[in-house]
Amino acid sequence: MADVAAAGKRATAAPARRTLTHVRKALAFAGRYVRGWFEPGRFIPHEPPKLSIETTNICNANCVFCANRVMTRRKQPLDLDDFRKAVDEFAAMGGVDLDFNATIGDPLLDPKLLERARYVRRYPQFATLGFVTTLQWLHRFDLDEFFAAGFTWLSVSTTLSGREMYKAFFQVDKYDQMLANLVALLEENNRRGRPLNIEIAVKPTDEPLERVLAHPDFQRVNALTPQDLEETVRRQGFYVDDWLGAVTLPPYLKKRPLYPRAFRPCQLLYAGLMVYSNGKVGACSCRDFEASSDLILGHVGEQSLATLWTGERLAALREDWRRRNHVPDICRSCRHYLY
Ligand SMILES: C[S@@+](CC[C@H](N)C(=O)[O-])C[C@H]1O[C@@H](n2cnc3c(N)ncnc32)[C@H](O)[C@@H]1O
Repeated sequence: MADVAAAGKRATAAPARRTLTHVRKALAFAGRYVRGWFEPGRFIPHEPPKLSIETTNICNANCVFCANRVMTRRKQPLDLDDFRKAVDEFAAMGGVDLDFNATIGDPLLDPKLLERARYVRRYPQFATLGFVTTLQWLHRFDLDEFFAAGFTWLSVSTTLSGREMYKAFFQVDKYDQMLANLVALLEENNRRGRPLNIEIAVKPTDEPLERVLAHPDFQRVNALTPQDLEETVRRQGFYVDDWLGAVTLPPYLKKRPLYPRAFRPCQLLYAGLMVYSNGKVGACSCRDFEASSDLILGHVGEQSLATLWTGERLAALREDWRRRNHVPDICRSCRHYLY
């Protein structure tokens, strides 16, 4: 009888605990949201800005949550002259924060990747250089040359719980190759005293966390990295965005909320510029996957980055949103909006 009563109490306590957690989270969000508004410099363009260069928008993978499958812009590497011009101009602007992050694409599919990295590293002011990758194509590069090219960080998008889970998420049968590349990279990095900061970004899959943590491949990789990989898996979110509604997410992934954005331009509009693989320059380094929105400011071959960064067009985009609440179309449904 006492057991039944205790079970009953637990059953009523669980929803109450959940409600309390929701209330706490809502209050924490409200606090962050209000504080953010008053953060010094929140609505002032960063000087110098950041620059992301999409060296290629080609990607063989078809991740369940990515817009690669729906992107219609031409698949191409960035013209080398346009690339050099962007790097030179960014250096002249005093830029220090540059990366090869692609809105869509995998930098390891760019045959000129190392040439580009070496070009960047001619400028000592760029303290860091790196990119996000599936690592499926690292074996195409000579590892000595790769390490000598001067990258300082990599973020590897992956899953570590077997070939089938990987195939379900990335929709390509490249698990064994990715794993071989990852192990080779981590071992070589360890041997060299860890010149590369390698982050392993374990993607959420439709399986219990404990099964991921117990997988022999997870444990093998975990033994090779200083990263707290178990913590990474435990805190991985299932909240992702849906690329402005262009991607239908599988049921186990949940859409990030559409945070309120009235009179509050996205932080990315103050942070820096993006050079797309077709040479277009945009104010969003994140979700403009067709590089065709109102946030496109010009072309790196035709205008200077400094002009685009300090020009009227970008200033008007920020001010129209901030003062008149004219939110650019692409930003209205963006779940990646940074408040
Ligand atoms: C578009 S990918 C390009 C780089 C590389 N091909 C890769 O997959 O890592 C950049 C990052 O965005 C993540 N990503 C793609 N779609 C996403 C979504 N809907 N929500 C959150 N992150 C997403 C990828 O997992 C990856 O970490």
